[in-house]
Amino acid sequence: MSGAMLAVALGADHAGWELKEALKAWLMDAGYQVLDFGAHGPDSVDYPDYAAQVAEAVSVGKVDRGLLVCGTGIGMTIAANKVPGIRAALCGDVFTARMSREHNDANVLALGGRLTGRETGLDILRAWLETSFAGGRHALRVDKISEMERGLMRARAGT
Ligand code: RB5
Repeated sequence: MSGAMLAVALGADHAGWELKEALKAWLMDAGYQVLDFGAHGPDSVDYPDYAAQVAEAVSVGKVDRGLLVCGTGIGMTIAANKVPGIRAALCGDVFTARMSREHNDANVLALGGRLTGRETGLDILRAWLETSFAGGRHALRVDKISEMERGLMRARAGT
């Protein structure tokens, strides 16, 4: 699948919807497939409701990547990382965004709508989408995170 064909799920709360809408317009212009779970306006909503929908869409393979925006990006990151298989990274600059892909294979990008402006948000998103996972020693480390998750699920299931 080429980069331009990636499917990206979007979610935001009232503090992130404006940045989300701006990034959505760019994604659509650039040819990405977009699945927008909202929110679509300034009415107060709860960020975990949107984080759950986006993270689940990524986790089950309905989309390739997720983008979440709340006021700081912190709540969205915490919530998304509760979903199995999700590696959500909160990024406020391009370098962190690149590293989150290259070293951590992040599959969800979180942004702070009250901290990150449109141009910076766009630069971060583009870098994040266009950077590949480096694999190698980084894959061994990411595998350890996945193993932590599997161990926790086994412990919960009592198996
Ligand atoms: C909403 O006021 C705010 O708490 C939310 O957008 C986010 O920043 C939470 O982490």
